[in-house]
Amino acid sequence: MSRKFYISTPIYYPSDKLHIGHTYCTVATDAMARYKRMQGYDVMFLTGTDEHGQKIQQKAEAAGVTPQQYVDNIVSGIHDLWKLMNISHDRFIRTTDDYHVESIKKIFTKLYEQGDIYKGKYTGKYCTPCESFWTESQLVDGKCPDCGREVIDAEEEAYFFRLSKYADRLVEYYEAHPDFLEPPSRLNEMVNNFIKPGLEDLCVSRTTFDWGVPVEFDPGHVVYVWIDALSNYITALGYGNDKYDDFEKYWPADVHFVGKEIVRFHSIIWPAMLMALDLPLPGKVYGHGWLKFGGDKMSKSKGNVVDPVVLVGRYGVDALRYFLLREFPFGSDGNFTNEALISRINSDLANDLGNLLSRTVAMVGKYFGGKLPVERVADPIDDELLTMAKELRGKYEEQMEKYAFQNALIEVFKLISRANKYIDETAPWVLAKDEANKPRLATVLYNLLECLRIGSSLLTPFMPETAEKARAQMGASAEEFGWEAAGVFGKLPLDVAVVKGDALFPRIDMEKELAELAAAQVPAEEPKEEEPPMPKLPDITFDEFCKVEMTVCKVIACENVPKSEKLLKFQLDDGSGEPRQILSGIAKYYKAEDLVGKTLVAVTNLPPRKMMGQMSNGMLLSAEKGDKLNLLMLDDSVPAGSRLC
Ligand code: MSP
Repeated sequence: MSRKFYISTPIYYPSDKLHIGHTYCTVATDAMARYKRMQGYDVMFLTGTDEHGQKIQQKAEAAGVTPQQYVDNIVSGIHDLWKLMNISHDRFIRTTDDYHVESIKKIFTKLYEQGDIYKGKYTGKYCTPCESFWTESQLVDGKCPDCGREVIDAEEEAYFFRLSKYADRLVEYYEAHPDFLEPPSRLNEMVNNFIKPGLEDLCVSRTTFDWGVPVEFDPGHVVYVWIDALSNYITALGYGNDKYDDFEKYWPADVHFVGKEIVRFHSIIWPAMLMALDLPLPGKVYGHGWLKFGGDKMSKSKGNVVDPVVLVGRYGVDALRYFLLREFPFGSDGNFTNEALISRINSDLANDLGNLLSRTVAMVGKYFGGKLPVERVADPIDDELLTMAKELRGKYEEQMEKYAFQNALIEVFKLISRANKYIDETAPWVLAKDEANKPRLATVLYNLLECLRIGSSLLTPFMPETAEKARAQMGASAEEFGWEAAGVFGKLPLDVAVVKGDALFPRIDMEKELAELAAAQVPAEEPKEEEPPMPKLPDITFDEFCKVEMTVCKVIACENVPKSEKLLKFQLDDGSGEPRQILSGIAKYYKAEDLVGKTLVAVTNLPPRKMMGQMSNGMLLSAEKGDKLNLLMLDDSVPAGSRLC
């Protein structure tokens, strides 16, 4: 029976286009999943999207579409990106999937019924973009410690998860499982910064927006992001739903790969939730570093994101995959530069690997018509190379098991470089001059092919397409390229036949490329707001259109909503004799006092909605594109209560 290996990426927010930082974690997870499959494991590689929350709701409102339409559009782009990056996930979960929603309702209710969730009141500092409440002591210079933006005072009725109850058990668990969180520095950070100062209970429901999983027994509340998001790792296996039946087989996960800023959620909240659910904990949480650009974490708001699509278009998917995992140690931050990318491609891929393959295949072609004779003559000069080749798989495995992708690749390239040096040492072109040396020449070329076979088969998890091309050129079978064969020298038949192919990686002209790349990428100093394209909405019937009640309203009063940067509160005369209150997120575009007396249009048959604790009965119509917004205003002569038709 095969052993199982369950690995996950975080589920990504589909709020913006994903950049190379997100790609980094997914490529690392993919390499690990492919490596384990190669070893014969039954792998479950899970990724997906984290689609609920206020930020998505606001973005959808701003784009004039429903939150579901908004996320559908972005998620389809994420699927395209993973296809482009050759990501081999086994399952893709969306937190809007019905089965996940069903499980979340059950998990929340179970935790409530057993007393791990209780109702209380939350007062705290709230960061709207991050959807996070913070304690005073967690703020950095009074601002959100994650994104550095302003926080607001907020208070609301909410449900809480009794995180504090699990503090001792968590510490005991870490002590008993010192490898649970890696790299080890991250564990100290968790214990010293979060657990020792005292764990506070966690707010797990919200009432100020409704784009989330409703709390079954209290429908004014939606489940707040972390219970919804973290549970994906078990709901995707069928926990609490009938969609899948893999929970027994794969849980607990072997490793969750996560970026360092969400280590806290994965190493404190998630284990505590699992303890409350009486489920085993994942084997490991690995907190990888950030890919930075110009010294800063990439983020769309800073305008320093690097687009993987541009890079793949120019250099191919494998060059980018290789670069990401070779250039930066996985546990630490790394600074992305175009120069580093191009040098890496030129030195390792074009010069070392590409040249070794093309020279070797060309020599087998030139000296033996493409097929080696079977006679062999060994020489002590071969010993060092052969020992390296025989030991490579063990060294590689040791690094891969530690998630040290960079070191695993360094080991492979040590063999590739040594093989290139071996060509110079053995000078096959000199051997070729004398017919009597042909058996020795064949031995040299065979040794080179074997090094290439072992080295490039171990590159498969990192560069699947390149490894396949190399395999085809050296005439190796799939089995000769497998994990077992990688541990044995001499797997290719003695009379191996090669097939000449194209160069794996053409050399890149650094200067020319840098100039072109600068033009193709978003420059750091000029943030460019990219609006997602407006999705085409589904067609509706005339009858459906007629159901929308659009009423002309006069603004009686208008004011800013306290503690909200976005909302204006309107009292409107809609012709009914009773004032109508509507909240609209347009404070950025209009001053409240300028709107009094204006004639606007509102949709007046929508269900009432609560925003920042206040009711809104309808929606004002406006037109929006990019960073411009205009309220739909009519001539003052149009009476209040008139209908648009
Ligand atoms: N939705 C949450 C995760 C929930 S998991 C139960 C989230 N999403 S995210 O889209 O903001 O980030 C997803 C992952 O991408 C995180 O692990 C984050 O660290 C990673 N990265 C985002 N930018 C990154 C870099 N510039 N570099 C490396 N990883 C980065 O957090």
